[in-house]
Amino acid sequence: MSTQISVPPQLLLERILTLEIVRVTERAAVSAARLRGHGNEKAADQAAVDAMRRELNKLPIEGTVVIGEGERDEAPMLFIGEQVGIKAGPHVDIAVDPLEGTTLCAKNMPGSIATMAMADGGTLLHAPDVYMQKIAVGPGYAKGVVELDATPADNVRRLAKAKGVDVSAITVLVLDRLRHADIIQGVRSTGAAVRLITDGDVAGVIHCADPENTGVDMYLGIGGAPEGVLAAVALRCIGGQMQCRLILDTEEKRERARKMGVTDPRMIYGIEDMAKGDCLFAATGVTTGSLLSGVKFRKDVIETETVVMRSVTGTVRYIKAEHRQFEKFHLD
Ligand code: FBP
Repeated sequence: MSTQISVPPQLLLERILTLEIVRVTERAAVSAARLRGHGNEKAADQAAVDAMRRELNKLPIEGTVVIGEGERDEAPMLFIGEQVGIKAGPHVDIAVDPLEGTTLCAKNMPGSIATMAMADGGTLLHAPDVYMQKIAVGPGYAKGVVELDATPADNVRRLAKAKGVDVSAITVLVLDRLRHADIIQGVRSTGAAVRLITDGDVAGVIHCADPENTGVDMYLGIGGAPEGVLAAVALRCIGGQMQCRLILDTEEKRERARKMGVTDPRMIYGIEDMAKGDCLFAATGVTTGSLLSGVKFRKDVIETETVVMRSVTGTVRYIKAEHRQFEKFHLD
C-alpha cells in the first residue's frame, strides 16, 4: 500500500528545500576542493559548476538561473536563463556562484566558498555580470544609517554614532583593489580601521551581520553584481542593510541590463529590491576561512561545513557533514 503525501509548494521552498540546497553547495565545494592549490582557476570553477548543475537538476523544482556563471553565449553551464531541476515543483529563481573566490581556491588561500540562493520565481534581481557599488551593515540600526552616496568618512561617523562608539572602534571591510584607494583613505582619515581582503565579498558582506564575532562593522566598495545579489539574500535572512548600484558604464552593459529588466541604470537597490520574496541561502567552505571550514579529505570520509539560512524564520544552521561513499553518490 502506498501513501501519497502532497507537500504544499510553500512548505517545499521554505523548509524541505533548505536541506536540499545544502547538498548542492556541498558537492560543488568538494569538487572544487579537489583542485585546491593547483593554480588552475578555470578547472576548479568548472568542477564546481559541473557538480552544482548535476545536483540542481535532481531537485524537485522548476528553477531558472537568474544569477549565473555568465550570460548564455559565453557560459557553457549555469548561464543566466538556464532551466534547472526536475521540472516539477515550485517555480523558483536560482542564484549561483559555484566557486566564489576562484583565485583563493587555485592558490589554496583562506575563504573560498561554494554558494547559492533560491527564491520564489520572479523575486530575485536579474543582474548582468557587471561590477556593482556596495555598502552593507549588520542588523539593529535605523534604516538609512549609512548610504551608498555618502562619503566613506561620513558613513563611518554615522555608523559609530548609531553604535554608540568612537569611530576608532569601527572596522570597514574592503576588497584590496587600486580602485578602492579613495575609500580606504577616507575610512582611515576618520580614525576607523580597514580590513582588506583579496577576494570573496559575499562572505565579506555576511561578516557585517555579526560584528562581535567577526570584528567587521561595514562592507564598502565595488565587487561583482552576482556576488551582490547573493549577499543580499543572505542579509535578507539574517538581517542588516545593504545598498547597491550596478556599474553600467558602457552602452553595451546598459543594453544587457535593459534586456534583464533594468529600466533605471542609476537605481540604488536595497535588499528588498534584490530579494523581494522568501529566500534561502547556502554556502559551503572550500578552503578554510573566517566564515566556514574548508573541505577535509580524510581516509574514508569527506567533511564539509555549510551555513544555510531561511528568510521566513531567520534560522541559520551550520551543518557539519561527513560524507561516505561520496564518489558513488556524486556520480549517480
Ligand atoms: P570570483 O570567484 O569570480 O573570482 O570572484 C571573486 C571576487 O573577489 C568577488 O568576491 C568579488 O565580488 C569580485 O571578485 C571582485 O572582482 P575583481 O576581482 O574583478 O575586483
